[in-house]
Amino acid sequence: MDCFIIEGPSKIDGEVEISGSKNSSLAILFATLLTDEKCILNNVPELVDIKTTYKILSYTGKNCFFGFNRFEVEEKSNIITEAPYDLVRKMRASVLVAGPMLARFKYAKFSMPGGCAIGTRPIDMHLEGFKRLGAEISMEEGYVILKSRKLKPAVIKLRFPSVGATENLMMAASLIEGKTVIKNAAREPEIEDLASVLNKMGARVYGAGSDTITVYGVKKLNGFTHTVIPDRIEAQTFMILGAMCGRVRLKNIVAKHCRTLINKLKKSGASVKIVDDYLEVSKGRNIKAVNIKTEPYPGFPTDIQAQWMAYMCLCNWKAKITETIFENRFMHVAELNRMGAIISVKGNTATVVGVKNLIGATVMISDLRAGAGLILAALSAFGRSKIRRVYHIDRGYERIEMKLSKLGANIKRIEE
Ligand code: EPZ
Repeated sequence: MDCFIIEGPSKIDGEVEISGSKNSSLAILFATLLTDEKCILNNVPELVDIKTTYKILSYTGKNCFFGFNRFEVEEKSNIITEAPYDLVRKMRASVLVAGPMLARFKYAKFSMPGGCAIGTRPIDMHLEGFKRLGAEISMEEGYVILKSRKLKPAVIKLRFPSVGATENLMMAASLIEGKTVIKNAAREPEIEDLASVLNKMGARVYGAGSDTITVYGVKKLNGFTHTVIPDRIEAQTFMILGAMCGRVRLKNIVAKHCRTLINKLKKSGASVKIVDDYLEVSKGRNIKAVNIKTEPYPGFPTDIQAQWMAYMCLCNWKAKITETIFENRFMHVAELNRMGAIISVKGNTATVVGVKNLIGATVMISDLRAGAGLILAALSAFGRSKIRRVYHIDRGYERIEMKLSKLGANIKRIEE
């Protein structure tokens, strides 16, 4: 297993190009199952999760090519409407095969995605929605089986604006003739990106980005060519790095996708300015304590909570961080405390008492975004840190050590 060795504190100053969005790429790649025509997706980041998606699409019978951030999908043989356990267990987003397979083949069999470090992550809202669309649902040896003689449009109201459920139901509805409405839909930019692809394929999707999405489905969908939006979570991770350790100029970002964090960074005393076609974030004179509470988009992103916690470890007082999206997303607290942080947890709120600086230590990554928080902490810490289980990071950050080294970080990847 690889680990990172980081010598801190790093004087960070430079430019970083943000990669394409992991989460938007995943949803759009599964949408290729809705058509037998050629699909081309550009600006796809080279990540482990993309490689897992490649394997799942190939397993179903799609012909895939992925290189130079360009992903091509063609259909040369009959599709196997199944996603096997050993691939689904690696990536929860594999559940997104369900909507397209059900809508196009009236059948889908996929392994129940297990929980992960951050929570049990059930899929009840996905299944409730499929039932509303006319699917029969059964379970067999850990697999979910969806089938239907005739799917029908419906009005579906989500009890929570689930990103995955919204994506799965949008894709299913796009191949069901008639008007389907999804209420209390997720409003993330990745939902809008998927909607623009479904519209390119011939569906008519209205309201993506709002809490009510209307889909007029059609009999057949065409192929598409599309460029994925920039990864707002990667971008916000690098923004916090600038506020913690020096100055970072970000290229290829959509600032409005990061509005909530930008406001919080300014409140904490960091400087944030738009210069030509990039956004520059630099460290303030001192780091003011700013409380955050994670919420569905456009609220504070849960995927930035660990990175914000690393930042608040250096604040001039104490900050409260409340996690409302996942039930177990504080695994990074114990690791940050090993680096000299003073963080206590009560229920779903962590209280961070600021310290002058963190100290390098050996720490272990529990999940993708916790890992990002630990890397930020190690870059600001005095001394050497060894960050173990880097494979989590490789799921969601493209060439991270190269990007960090270019910014002035002293970081090495070693085989442990
Ligand atoms: C997406 O996960 C993202 N993943 C996550 O990013 C992100 O943290 C999350 O949305 C929230 O923004 C991808 O897009 C691939 P949800 P998803 O359905 O769709 C509960 C990363 O680091 N829930 O909005 O799985 C669920 O347990 C990843 O890139 C149900 O109870 O998130 C969670 O507590 C991590 N039943 C909450 O809702 C359901 O049927 C939000 O889940 C579905 C979800």
